[in-house]
Amino acid sequence: MAKQYDVLVIGGGPGGYVAAIRAAQLGLSAACIESQSYADAKGEVRLGGTCLNVGCIPSKALLQSSEMYEQAGHGFVMHGIGFDGLKIDVATMMKRKDNIVAQLTSGIRGLFKKNKVTLLSGRGSFVGREDDLWQVEVAGAAGSELVSARHVIVATGSTPRSLPDVAVDNELICDNVGALSFGAVPKRLGVIGAGVIGLELGSVWKRLGAEVTILEALPDFLAAADQAVAKEAWKVFTQKQGLSIHLGVKILKVSRNEAGVAIEYESGDETYTLECDRLIVSVGRVPYTEGLGCDNVGLELDSRGRIAVDGQCRTKLPNVWAVGDVVPGPMLAHKGMEEGVMVAELIAGQAGHIDYDTVPWVMYTHPEIAWVGKTEQQLKREGVAYRVGQIPFAANGRALGQGDTTGFVKMLADAQSDRILGVHIIGNNASELVAEAVVAMEFGASSEDIARICHAHPTLSEAMHEAALAVDKRALHF
Ligand code: FAD
Ligand code: NAI
Repeated sequence: MAKQYDVLVIGGGPGGYVAAIRAAQLGLSAACIESQSYADAKGEVRLGGTCLNVGCIPSKALLQSSEMYEQAGHGFVMHGIGFDGLKIDVATMMKRKDNIVAQLTSGIRGLFKKNKVTLLSGRGSFVGREDDLWQVEVAGAAGSELVSARHVIVATGSTPRSLPDVAVDNELICDNVGALSFGAVPKRLGVIGAGVIGLELGSVWKRLGAEVTILEALPDFLAAADQAVAKEAWKVFTQKQGLSIHLGVKILKVSRNEAGVAIEYESGDETYTLECDRLIVSVGRVPYTEGLGCDNVGLELDSRGRIAVDGQCRTKLPNVWAVGDVVPGPMLAHKGMEEGVMVAELIAGQAGHIDYDTVPWVMYTHPEIAWVGKTEQQLKREGVAYRVGQIPFAANGRALGQGDTTGFVKMLADAQSDRILGVHIIGNNASELVAEAVVAMEFGASSEDIARICHAHPTLSEAMHEAALAVDKRALHF
């Protein structure tokens, strides 16, 4: 007799593992199928998906290590701290990153045990439906088994988008997997795509000494960000940090040669060749549904290969749901996790909810970039009347004390109601500061609400306070 569950989750990334835990917390019998073992994991499947294994967590570990190296090399001197012989041991840096990943992924196994979620190791694919129960095959190393469930949540995530005729080997030409595991600092690093991965991982290797050239197809830099932020970031990344970024290019050919990789590209009317030792291709990600057996049950994909869902992550099939990178919306771990919680709660008969308008975005470059809500250009396009308050960190005592005054906080509020419509931050700790704006927007706060809240002194959060005051043209310290 096939094992039977109330909820069967396919995919153990942030969307999937959180959905399974929440379902179990709500008293449902839950299982999660995961297939990925990753090279260093002794054959055991590793939970946590892209995020924990080859995404958010390892990239942030390397960003921290490389930022400390950068600070030691260039930032300490202003504090009167100096020393000779600074060096980077890439193997130790990578080992630290791998240990963090191992700790967190095994932590999720622990959470599964604690919450009584069954882990099914193998590849899950839909077989059919009998008596209101979905049949799913789990093909593992030791063979296949058929399991059945009342509800199925698909959380199979995404994979890197590839460029035609550019074969990724994760040695010379890398996607995120290879780019997070270089054995040494490349002398010349090429990056195709000036998006989040290109800028985060480009920054890591630049700080450690690589000459980094980023080739971007779009004519605008960080087109999705508020343009004031994008402009400031451009200035810092290119002029201060020396990232070489070329916009509006067309990649013509990528070839391996004895020296490394040659990228032929067109810019304006000219053709150029970029020679580099290693290349990162980071041109976006695509939803992953390979081998899921969508056709076996008629699970509908949209024109971009994403699983088609309604506003509450329901597919058109009864009791089949989908969350995370495999469905429309930003490909962000926290968005997938919230969807996972929402779906588990809906299955349990509760009022599951997610507010897509207050999903924060963060880029962990230095300075960090974070925002929530609308950009100024979006408000202009939509014809919304707004007021704006912008405060530079140069006017913030804590930022000065920390020796890092780059950037600003910019708040946009509705001209009539004063409701906060968007907050855009570029600066140290922007990733943490944005949380206040998310909470404020979630509660429908006005800029005056933030302006009337006591913020600890001296903190970076005072820049948020001052930006709120500045909306009403009454900043106290600027
Ligand atoms: P995934 O994490 O991709 O997990 C899907 C899982 O399903 C995988 O483990 C896969 O093996 C498994 N699977 C697929 N098909 C099957 C099947 N048929 N049977 C069984 N298992 C299957 N987001 C942020 O919010 N913050 C960040 O800082 C951040 N940094 C990133 C850095 C990098 C370099 C990358 C690449 C991504 C980053 N992201 C970040 C994005 C984040 O990783 C994804 O949004 C998130 O992992 C998506 O979660 P998911 O559960 O939808 O899918
Ligand atoms: P991205 O969508 O952020 O950036 C891809 C960039 O490549 C874009 O600027 C695009 O215009 C460019 N591009 C596309 N085709 C090109 C071509 N042929 N030639 C040159 N440039 C080209 O995608 P990225 O950086 O690959 O990351 C994938 C996703 O992973 C992100 O969208 C994000 O959802 C997630 N992520 C999130 C992070 C975070 O939250 N801090 C960090 C890293 C990734």
